[in-house]
Amino acid sequence: MQNFNRPTAKIIGTGSYVPERVLTNQDLEKMVETNDEWIVSRTGMKERRIARPDEFTSDMGLEAAKKALEASKIPADSLDLILFATLTPDYVFPSTACLIQNQLGATKAAAVDVQAACTGYLYVLGMAKAFIESGIYKNILVVAAEKLSSIVNYQDRNTCVLFGDGASAAVISSEGHGLAIREISLGSDGELAKLLILPAGGSRQPATRETVDCGLHYLQMEGKEVFKHAVRRMESASKEVIDRAGVKENEISWLIPHQANMRIIEALAKRFEIPMEKVFVTIHKYGNTSASSIGIALDEMLRQNNAKKGDNILLTAFGAGLTWGASLLTHE
Ligand SMILES: CC(C)(COP(=O)(O)OP(=O)(O)OC[C@H]1O[C@@H](n2cnc3c(N)ncnc32)[C@H](O)[C@@H]1OP(=O)(O)O)[C@@H](O)C(=O)NCCC(=O)NCCS
Repeated sequence: MQNFNRPTAKIIGTGSYVPERVLTNQDLEKMVETNDEWIVSRTGMKERRIARPDEFTSDMGLEAAKKALEASKIPADSLDLILFATLTPDYVFPSTACLIQNQLGATKAAAVDVQAACTGYLYVLGMAKAFIESGIYKNILVVAAEKLSSIVNYQDRNTCVLFGDGASAAVISSEGHGLAIREISLGSDGELAKLLILPAGGSRQPATRETVDCGLHYLQMEGKEVFKHAVRRMESASKEVIDRAGVKENEISWLIPHQANMRIIEALAKRFEIPMEKVFVTIHKYGNTSASSIGIALDEMLRQNNAKKGDNILLTAFGAGLTWGASLLTHE
């Protein structure tokens, strides 16, 4: 029989983690031909966090996950599923999700990694929503964590100034109170796959001495091209979710965009006429932490008590693939 009382997927607890070590623009000036003025004016970044050599994506994800579970008051053995968004997994396999399933003692949970680059947080949010609203699962842990410092070439000034390490997590449930995931829109365009790519280490070009010598195990990016698509894609996905939710642009309480470039964030806010006071920004202190960036910002915003009941929170992201997406949350 059809279930007319479809459960609503809600974020009932969030967590985040950033490593202690700070890499400043001044530090980067000593590593490549760059300067603080260029980095701040072109990107908005001042510093980023870098994981210890013995600290890995699963470790950072675990810290964020523990905080999200604590905030949601859900014990790990009540989780049905763990979805882990990352493009820097500890291993190609087994999945990072399985590593933290074990460390958390989430004995009843299925576990899987999702790779949607910087849009990862939104992809796992969308999947969690679908599993919960279909009635398949009740409690899902989503984690997004990246050790981007493991794939960045610190001799390439075009990319090394942009990225940092960090993690975020959220518990999504059919019960309890929090942020209802009202709408979600996800997209992709694989024709643009080469704009942002890590060429070697997969089945197409397995790691060899030669691929390492040529630096093909580092991420490569055509920044200007990525920039062009970013604003357009985030704008269309955002428009789609607010239209579907029946929310007007001036009813958006907070915009939390992927933290890739301050100029991209400002251009997006301008298109929706959202004043910058309503845009939650962490880019100056963490840089671009890929999949984890939206989740870190959302967690910080909630912990600073910046959101109140009835607030509409718009999340949006874009990344390699290309992938993009948006989600509208309402604080219940
Ligand atoms: C990468 C990005 C910051 C570059 O900014 P830009 O304004 O497009 O700059 P350009 O690429 O046109 O480079 C301008 C000049 O600055 C130089 N430059 C690049 N990085 C530099 C750095 N760290 N310090 C100093 N100069 C730098 C370039 O070499 C270029 O010099 P040239 O004109 O002599 O060739 C910007 O394109 C961007 O943010 N793109 C989106 C990337 C992104 O979001 N990626 C993640 C997706 S999730």
